[in-house]
Amino acid sequence: MSEDKNEWGSNLSFILAMIGSAVGLGNIWRYPYVLYSNGGGAFYIPYIVAILLMAIPFLILEYGVGYNFKSSFAKAIRKINPKWEYLGWFLPVSVFMIMIYYSAILGWDGIYVVLSLFKGWGADPNTYFTSTLLQSTGSNIGLTSFIPVIAVAMLVGWVIVWLISHRDLEKGLGKVSKFLVPLLFAIMVVIVGFSLTLPGASVGLVELFNPDWLLLTHFDIWMAAFGQIVFSLSLGMSIAFTYASYTKDNADLITNTISIAFANSLFENFAALGVFSILGYMSVQSGTPVAELVTQGTGLVFIVYPIVFNVLGQWAYVLGPLFFITVYLAGLTSILSTIEPLSFSIQNKFGLSRKRTMTILIVIGAAVSMIYATAIGSYVLGYVDTFINQIAILLGVIFECILFAWIFKAEKLIDFLNARSKTIKLGRWWILIVKYILPIFVSIVWIGGMVDVISYSSYDQLIVTVIAAAALLIATFIFTILPAKNPDWDSVDERV
Ligand code: PFF
Repeated sequence: MSEDKNEWGSNLSFILAMIGSAVGLGNIWRYPYVLYSNGGGAFYIPYIVAILLMAIPFLILEYGVGYNFKSSFAKAIRKINPKWEYLGWFLPVSVFMIMIYYSAILGWDGIYVVLSLFKGWGADPNTYFTSTLLQSTGSNIGLTSFIPVIAVAMLVGWVIVWLISHRDLEKGLGKVSKFLVPLLFAIMVVIVGFSLTLPGASVGLVELFNPDWLLLTHFDIWMAAFGQIVFSLSLGMSIAFTYASYTKDNADLITNTISIAFANSLFENFAALGVFSILGYMSVQSGTPVAELVTQGTGLVFIVYPIVFNVLGQWAYVLGPLFFITVYLAGLTSILSTIEPLSFSIQNKFGLSRKRTMTILIVIGAAVSMIYATAIGSYVLGYVDTFINQIAILLGVIFECILFAWIFKAEKLIDFLNARSKTIKLGRWWILIVKYILPIFVSIVWIGGMVDVISYSSYDQLIVTVIAAAALLIATFIFTILPAKNPDWDSVDERV
């Protein structure tokens, strides 16, 4: 396995690929709703605190350690302490599980790109999405009814991912990111520009930003801000680590971190302007208050937006496809990142080539993802998403924090990172944050998530959660105990 197959061609490729990973469905369908339902304008206070206190310090740590090892996540963790190798596989496998269900959302969205050309969702988008397309049933009989159109749309996504990912890093992901990420931003500017001119846009924006300062005293809004940032920036998911390990020598990681966090926030706040202008327009047209229209997730993208396009007249034939293409690109650039940590770790341990590893993982991922092409797919997806994001990954993040900050010793990185930084310099404050504040905060968010899952779970959800947890733990265990095939597995070069 030659090294340059896993190296960025330039710093720009690294930054754009990382922005591509961060900017995804979380920015378009999650953030506007989170902002609105957590105090509107007042949400910016916990949001900015979360970025400054958690996101930037933690990303710097993840980049710093990743850069230092110039090897995969699992290999580096083993080097720091062989007893922790489980963690080295736990996070990459969790992120790969995200990939599998992300492929379903990408598939649905692909179908909507086509539908939007002729408003194929009909007069009742709600019934169309839940009953006609997803044939949604919560009961396990749904497992036997397979929905071929969804399967085909998902397979198209997997093929696109394979076409990009099986190539050498710079020729595939690097090149595609340099093209798709600027394109994504450009289309978003067009959509938001248009939305702001719609009659009633200001109604939506006033509703969105109207600050509810009192909420600042509630614990929930602080948790929401921290949770949003972890998801949106793909923090602690071993992606930032892996991307930094692919960089050439002499990267200015501190400045890169700031640029990436800034671009991600810019995009999601921009998306919020667009979403709420459109909801304001809809509210004025239909007489329904904005509060009754807001929703998040699939409800926003596949139900509320088609309803809006139905009343938008001719413009819908431009705005509709543009919108669904934006969601597709955002999803695609994120899903591409979800395979990298596991793939690189497998290449390192078992001595397989990038091409072969990607092909095997994509075939397995595509096969498993077919569960989401059944009538219980959308339920399972929701449950697995909750388990992975609220429980598994946050737990991984807490351990990662302890391992990197305490056992690896974050102090080792300071001089090295500062010497290359053209912007801020790290000091004792950084150590204080990564060693104490961060693990404590993330633990609190994790406990909140656990309490949520335990108190609101249905029986079905518990079963799916147990199966997902078992799959994650078994895969982690197998990767850890299988003997290494690559003679270099235990020799790691450190750059710092
Ligand atoms: N950061 C992505 C978003 O905001 O949509 C979501 C995401 C991508 C989460 C990749 C996890 C991941 F591994």
